[in-house]
Amino acid sequence: MRVLITGATGLIGGKIVKICHQNGIKINYLTTSKSKINDDENYQGFFWNPKSGEIDKECFKNVTAIIHLAGASVSKRWTSSYKKEILNSRLETTQLLVKTLSEINHSVTQVVSASAIGIYQDSLTNYYDEDYKVKDETSFLTHVVKEWEQAVDAFSSLNIMVSKVRIGLVLSKNGGALKEMVKPIKFGVGAAFGTGQQWQSWIHINDLARQFVYILKHDLEGVFNGVAPNPVSNQELTKAIANILNKPLFLPNIPKFFMKLVLGEMHTILFESQRVSSKKIEDNGFEFKYHHLQPALENLLK
Ligand SMILES: NC(=O)c1ccc[n+]([C@@H]2O[C@H](COP(=O)([O-])OP(=O)(O)OC[C@H]3O[C@@H](n4cnc5c(N)ncnc54)[C@H](OP(=O)(O)O)[C@@H]3O)[C@@H](O)[C@H]2O)c1
Repeated sequence: MRVLITGATGLIGGKIVKICHQNGIKINYLTTSKSKINDDENYQGFFWNPKSGEIDKECFKNVTAIIHLAGASVSKRWTSSYKKEILNSRLETTQLLVKTLSEINHSVTQVVSASAIGIYQDSLTNYYDEDYKVKDETSFLTHVVKEWEQAVDAFSSLNIMVSKVRIGLVLSKNGGALKEMVKPIKFGVGAAFGTGQQWQSWIHINDLARQFVYILKHDLEGVFNGVAPNPVSNQELTKAIANILNKPLFLPNIPKFFMKLVLGEMHTILFESQRVSSKKIEDNGFEFKYHHLQPALENLLK
């Protein structure tokens, strides 16, 4: 089996590549950086420039499935031009894949695309499953994810099966949110954000990568939440990290207005609350290795 991955060079992509290789799956990948192109039989890179519509069509050779992860990071200051980049990078990459596949002979039968739990509205009380219908696009991220998922649905017009993984807060030792949370705690200046009550639907990166490959191997169609079975509050997450690092937490919680000054509109990521269910993927037979936060953090931080 050969799979084409977009965003293979990123945090999640790198782990998915590893799990694919462990399962005997060969990888082609598309990258926007010519310097990241490898020419290995099991890990072959191809160039694309989604902005200008350029793509090396050889990337589809012998490929039966696509894992689509590419998109500009949401962890940079959301100026109005960068907000356009966050949205457009996801739409342009998706549209370029769909357009190219509609023009060539290919063997692709399935697409598994990244999505995000940011599609669910900020709530301390809702418990979100995949059937939840998004009502208002109250936040920028809800709008982005909704548009992104709609763009991904276009693959089905080519008779390609579509699966989407609504990814939660990915815990990894190599980057992403955990690394940023650990820094102030290590220096003894860590604290929860706001009330600290907001739900954080986390997932260990290994389980997330395994989930993508599981969906692929079991031909699972539709939307799946990519979160662990036991979400925690921001306060609990902060405390658990401090405990494992043997660091005290004595500062008061960091108020919202302060983070808004520091980060601008992007501060909403830290204060939004989404309690998200993993039941659907578990009902489909997927077994998490990390159900609870403590062992996940011990694995990553010790
Ligand atoms: N990490 C999380 O907690 C999390 C949570 C929810 C959703 N997600 C979503 O999951 C996907 C993968 O996340 P990640 O954390 O692995 O992201 P990442 O480390 O930032 O990697 C994303 C990859 O996308 C490619 N890329 C970046 N900007 C691009 C652009 N303007 N046009 C085309 N390609 C671009 C890059 O590959 P090249 O440099 O090789 O082109 C990059 O390696 C993203 O779409 C992200 O929104 C992540």
